[in-house]
Amino acid sequence: MARGKFITLEGGEGAGKSTHLAALAPRLRAAGLEVVVTREPGGTPGAEEIRRLLVEGPVARWEPETEALLHYAARMEHVAKVIRPALAAGRWVISDRFADSTLAYQGYGHGLDRAWIARLDALMLGGFRPDLTVILDLPVKTGLARAAARRKGGNRYEQMARVFHARVRKGFRAIARREPKRCVLIDASRDLDAVRRAIFNAVAHRLRIDLE
Ligand SMILES: Nc1ncnc2c1ncn2[C@@H]1O[C@H](COP(=O)(O)OP(=O)(O)O)[C@@H](O)[C@H]1O
Ligand SMILES: [Mg+2]
Repeated sequence: MARGKFITLEGGEGAGKSTHLAALAPRLRAAGLEVVVTREPGGTPGAEEIRRLLVEGPVARWEPETEALLHYAARMEHVAKVIRPALAAGRWVISDRFADSTLAYQGYGHGLDRAWIARLDALMLGGFRPDLTVILDLPVKTGLARAAARRKGGNRYEQMARVFHARVRKGFRAIARREPKRCVLIDASRDLDAVRRAIFNAVAHRLRIDLE
């Protein structure tokens, strides 16, 4: 059986990751694919417990290194127990965030050494990468306003400073530039329809499937 494809959606707060994931999954299913929808941090019961440590509580509760390690602990569970088995069984997996978020948030956002994160990634994932990463890009102000309208208060990351989120955006854009074969950068400041069409086009072309 052919291995399934692994697609990740990345981008800052309020970029539209969850919205577009919910639209992409049924479209792939309509094309005859078996699709697993998942998210990070989380995706397994244990990783969802770790998620609570990361998204709840005071903004300054963790050292950046601790935060990165918690994300990778959750990711290890997610990859080993959900993502790899699904791909091996021929299913397609779409994840709301994955490893690029750790590089963008803990690396670019918190200023952790990027080589250290790369070593951690190699240690935990051994070169495992998505087949396609869709990076939704939009001004920080727009994204945070969308996120705030969606839910009052906002989680621990949403409460971090505007300059932090500006560095995260810069990080995602740098990742897209550095890995153009794996990543596609999409202007998410446009209306929902335009963004959705851009995502479907990217998936269809990059992964050579018919999504009509
Ligand atoms: N292109 C868009 N134009 C207008 N509103 C949008 C757009 N994309 C997302 N939204 C809205 O913004 C909010 C945040 O979107 P969401 O998908 O939850 O973002 P994320 O998961 O990336 O944080 C939601 O209320 C969503 O309906
Ligand atoms: Mg979301």
